[in-house]
Amino acid sequence: SSTPYLRVTPSMLKSQTGRKGKDAWMGLNGKVYNITPYAEFHPGGIPELLRGAGKDATKIFGEVHPWVNYDTMLSACLVGLLVDEPEGTE
Ligand code: HEM
Repeated sequence: SSTPYLRVTPSMLKSQTGRKGKDAWMGLNGKVYNITPYAEFHPGGIPELLRGAGKDATKIFGEVHPWVNYDTMLSACLVGLLVDEPEGTE
């Protein structure tokens, strides 16, 4: 059977902004990462990084630095897969 990754819906992702005592999660190309442990090391600073928190940041990431290999850098911070909202909940 396949690896039991956590399936993260957009509404779950939306609550993970790094505020209210919760970690900041970021969606990138179908995967969701916990970016909280990385935040203090981000060369662009924490506020800039958090622009992509709680959402699918694929587009904005690609606009800023498409050459950055986030997948390797955040491999230990993988939360799960970004999936569609279940039917009838939108
Ligand atoms: C640099 C923004 C996510 C890794 C930067 C810089 C900005 C930025 C503005 C330029 C800083 C400077 O040179 O003064 C953002 C935004 C993000 C985001 C808006 C999300 C929406 C990430 C993530 C990673 C990352 C998830 C890695 C896990 C880096 C690296 C640099 C950088 C390695 C230096 C790149 C270089 O100088 O070639 N970021 N970042 N960033 N960021 Fe991000």
